[in-house]
Amino acid sequence: MIFFLQRTTMKIDLTKKTILVTGASRGIGRGIAEALGRSGATVAVHYRKNKGQAEKLAREIGNGSNVFQADLEKPEACERLFNDVIRAFGHLDVLVNNAGIFLNSPLDSDNWLADWNKTMDVNLRAAGLLSRLAILHFQQRVGGRIINISSRAAFRGDNPEHLAYAASKAGMVALTKSIARGYGKNNITAFLIAPGWVKTDMNRETIERYGEEVITKDLALNKLTEPKDLAPMVVLLASGLADHATGTTIDMNAGSYVH
Ligand SMILES: NC(=O)c1ccc[n+]([C@@H]2O[C@H](COP(=O)([O-])OP(=O)(O)OC[C@H]3O[C@@H](n4cnc5c(N)ncnc54)[C@H](OP(=O)(O)O)[C@@H]3O)[C@@H](O)[C@H]2O)c1
Repeated sequence: MIFFLQRTTMKIDLTKKTILVTGASRGIGRGIAEALGRSGATVAVHYRKNKGQAEKLAREIGNGSNVFQADLEKPEACERLFNDVIRAFGHLDVLVNNAGIFLNSPLDSDNWLADWNKTMDVNLRAAGLLSRLAILHFQQRVGGRIINISSRAAFRGDNPEHLAYAASKAGMVALTKSIARGYGKNNITAFLIAPGWVKTDMNRETIERYGEEVITKDLALNKLTEPKDLAPMVVLLASGLADHATGTTIDMNAGSYVH
């Protein structure tokens, strides 16, 4: 008896999908936006300060992509951002909550409380507010997807100077799971990506101080993760091919923390 194996190719086409990526002017968000664009998506490239880089990226992506400014520390700016995107593109299919900050705040800092609040506002409250607006929008359509960029710090914890950071990223875990559990029947899915070290501006100082080799020793792989190493996972999640993994966390930390 001869078995013929049918070879299938998985090809991801995001043409006609409109995707908002927060913090897309640099780093991980930029890598995600580029990969989504290469798969045909129209990307709402969100930025706070780096207008020039965001505009260049939107031009490079093409597919009708455009830039949107907002300081996500301000709740009213989150709402304006979402409404601006809907006004410009007519609808949204996927929200990627990526923008984040990593403030160094030792316990004896005079700014400890201000840093705590700012971290929660940018990393968690903005993701919550944008998710709320996205869910309300998705409920009026055919559904949609939310992809939250958290951190291994949510599970492993971080150092004493980054208590707020770890707590904000852990909040994203519960946010993601609750959305997945609550809105799956509306065809709304939610996923969490938990990166470890990623080579971006966020930890440029640490990399420069200790050297890439020292940080790499902490990994199972022999190369520090770059934004392009995370981006394909977001493309897959955005496509809908992984919807039955809704609520899940995808650890992408080069094996530095396996739990
Ligand atoms: N790098 C890592 O090792 C690592 C590890 C785990 C998780 N993460 C998470 O991955 C995400 C992206 O990190 P990254 O390394 O790419 O950071 P990054 O290189 O520092 O870039 C941060 C991005 O967020 C935007 N942003 C910062 N503050 C903002 C605010 N108040 N309002 C709106 N946008 C703001 C920035 O916009 P402008 O440049 O336009 O101001 C920029 O696009 C973050 O959520 C981070 O916590 C990073």
